Amino acid sequence: PEPGWVAEADVVVVGSGIAGLTAALELRTRVPRVLLVTKGELSSGSTVWAQGGIAAALHPSDSPAAHLEDTLVAGAGVCDRAAVEVLVTEGPARVRQLVGLGTLFDTGDGGEMALTREGGHHADRIAHAGGDATGAEISRALVAQLEAVRNDPGIEVIEHALVIDLLTSAGPVAPATPGGERRAVCGVTLHVRGEGSRDGVGAVRARAVVLATGGVGQVYLSSTNPPQATGDGIAAALRAGADLGDLEFVQFHPTVLWLGSAARGQLTLVSEAVRGEGAYLVDTDGQRFMPAVHPMAELAPRDVVAHAIVRQMEATGSDHVLLDARHLGADFLRRRFPTITERLREQGFDITEEPVPVAPAQHYHSGGVVTNLDGRTTVRGLYAVGEVACTGVHGANRLASNSLLEGLVFAHRAAADIAARMAAGELPLQQAVPRSGPTGLVMSATRSRIQRVSTRGSGVLRTRESLAEAARGLAGVRTDAHLATADDVGPSAQPQAAEWETSNVHQVATVLTAAAAARTESRGGHFRADHPLTDPGWERRVVVRLGDDGVL
Ligand code: SIN
Repeated sequence: PEPGWVAEADVVVVGSGIAGLTAALELRTRVPRVLLVTKGELSSGSTVWAQGGIAAALHPSDSPAAHLEDTLVAGAGVCDRAAVEVLVTEGPARVRQLVGLGTLFDTGDGGEMALTREGGHHADRIAHAGGDATGAEISRALVAQLEAVRNDPGIEVIEHALVIDLLTSAGPVAPATPGGERRAVCGVTLHVRGEGSRDGVGAVRARAVVLATGGVGQVYLSSTNPPQATGDGIAAALRAGADLGDLEFVQFHPTVLWLGSAARGQLTLVSEAVRGEGAYLVDTDGQRFMPAVHPMAELAPRDVVAHAIVRQMEATGSDHVLLDARHLGADFLRRRFPTITERLREQGFDITEEPVPVAPAQHYHSGGVVTNLDGRTTVRGLYAVGEVACTGVHGANRLASNSLLEGLVFAHRAAADIAARMAAGELPLQQAVPRSGPTGLVMSATRSRIQRVSTRGSGVLRTRESLAEAARGLAGVRTDAHLATADDVGPSAQPQAAEWETSNVHQVATVLTAAAAARTESRGGHFRADHPLTDPGWERRVVVRLGDDGVL
């Protein structure tokens, strides 16, 4: 392979949401050369869209044990208990650390952190900022920290840089470690748009790579995710030989503004915190239906509420239900939820005066690249943190507001682990080897076809037939072999970023569909209409990996 330019770093961090920014900031103080690359601007990505907040046992009457219990219940029997213990015990200190880094969380009259409740929580433990703009405030504070050190020679930032692929060594790797990994990561190849000497396609050699690339919203026709959520980290990790897990557990948020069945792309989220403050779900006849479904009514775990809404829509022949918050009062709603009231108003809805139409839409991917408690994947030197990772904390259904917390807690752990292993000489720079055989690229024009197929086949309700149909549809998507492989990065072979991204969307859709077909039961975010019951025999993870022959 002949990249247009080659650089070197100790660690490459990919992505600039809460997980990527935290990892980069932590690594900067521990290893000599850190490179942070992000597809858009530093402040783009999913974190800035997070409304409700970040969950942690911060109130004296709450406890990590209670947070653990709620997380395990939401995860429907398949959380990794050790990972959840890490999350809930380290979480409170990490959130307080965010305050130290300048995050302005909302406070009560006495100056104490204001905490609210969301679905599945039995305590008020959601810290929020700007009312309903928590992610934006956390991102602002972390980006400010990063900007303050941007001229530091120990850290480089490249924006508008899509990771095309991971560079890997031939296995087995040396020195031997208890991980028994077959390969090591040796860096990344990048497609950079307009960053001076780093323009075009290039390669960065590195001892470790941290994937913090976020979610997979672009697999579906509509989602709360921004357009950048093309599953790049999952697809690259798969191609590099890493294990993926829990891919079938896709979370559909119950209350996304419904704008008609033709609505596409990023839709407006109406935070669970609105129900946390007392809003009701009603059907199109004005009847509340959640009290009859679950003792926690509108604040039941997210999968329960999403499925109840789908059933209610079927029963009433409607394609949406309504969220009624009028009784909370206009002043309170505008003060507590300024972003949501404004976004709804821009789209013609006044939540202070009328019930607002909502329906479930894709929101979060609970599965991803399998990691241990330090963010290590099954490829030596490759780490995954945040939504791209499968740490096991979410199980089959993520508890509300645990996602920002997961990114924060596990990014800290990954940074500490990388620094320790580097100091111990466990992560030497390795020589990359070309991968065998070209994998075709998918033309960006086929993205909407992939999304249609996935929405129909592996959406909120799945069956054996719908999944088989989706698998056939995805297999039928044309790949263009002449665009060749991610290793073929010479200046003469430079497809546009959209083609690389669409190929990632296609690969993620394919493995997600395969995992959903394999799990012949219903659990959490995975609902099989042909297997509607939860089967105790399925309390295990579906793991997907590419064999050496490139076959799943
Ligand atoms: C919300 O604000 O409802 C989203 C919170 C989350 O996804 O955890």
